Amino acid sequence: MTSARDIAARGPLIPVLTIADPAHAAPLAEALLAGGVTVLEVTLRTPAALEAIAEIVRTCPAATVGAGTIRDAGQLAAAIGAGAAFGVSPGTTARLADAARESGIPFLPGAATVSEAMALAERGFEVVKFFPAEAAGGAATLKAWHAPLPDLRFCPTGGVTGDNAGDYLTLANVACVGGSWIAPAGRVAAADWAGITGLARAASEELARLRPG
Ligand code: 3PG
Repeated sequence: MTSARDIAARGPLIPVLTIADPAHAAPLAEALLAGGVTVLEVTLRTPAALEAIAEIVRTCPAATVGAGTIRDAGQLAAAIGAGAAFGVSPGTTARLADAARESGIPFLPGAATVSEAMALAERGFEVVKFFPAEAAGGAATLKAWHAPLPDLRFCPTGGVTGDNAGDYLTLANVACVGGSWIAPAGRVAAADWAGITGLARAASEELARLRPG
């Protein structure tokens, strides 16, 4: 069975996508794949999000597509129904955590404090979304968390860019990084697929430099 750690390792750059037009889903996924990015998070922030996930599942088998910005159990169920391979939440409620564990889907629950991260570890989660990463102290915070929380791995998102992704990716407790900089909503809305492939390729090349092999 695929775990959250598997999903993170398959990334480990995860574009956080906001898709307003379902017709953009397949070309966007293809543009990211062409740039070497295969794990995609479609945020449930638009009415088109579930249809976009289903469309990517249907047309782009090389992509691993998950749902982000999941805030409750109903959204989790809808995402799984659309074919999402994993789920991500910005923070975590007890009900959502229970639903995620029961679903069996790889899930990266959100936390911004040590106590929240500990509560998630207690429930069996292995990879936690650190959100909002830059506003919550950035790479220095995650570095400080490694000694007291040695077994937890993190996916920092929120303010991560091509300029600071390396600060995170070189930390021992960072499994993957997420962010919208690889496919900004404006470029998606403008159908700038070549531009998005260029951003994805640049991010992939930087990743290969930081984590060779
Ligand atoms: C998320 O949900 O992970 C964030 O909104 C992404 O943040 P970013 O736009 O700052 O990358």
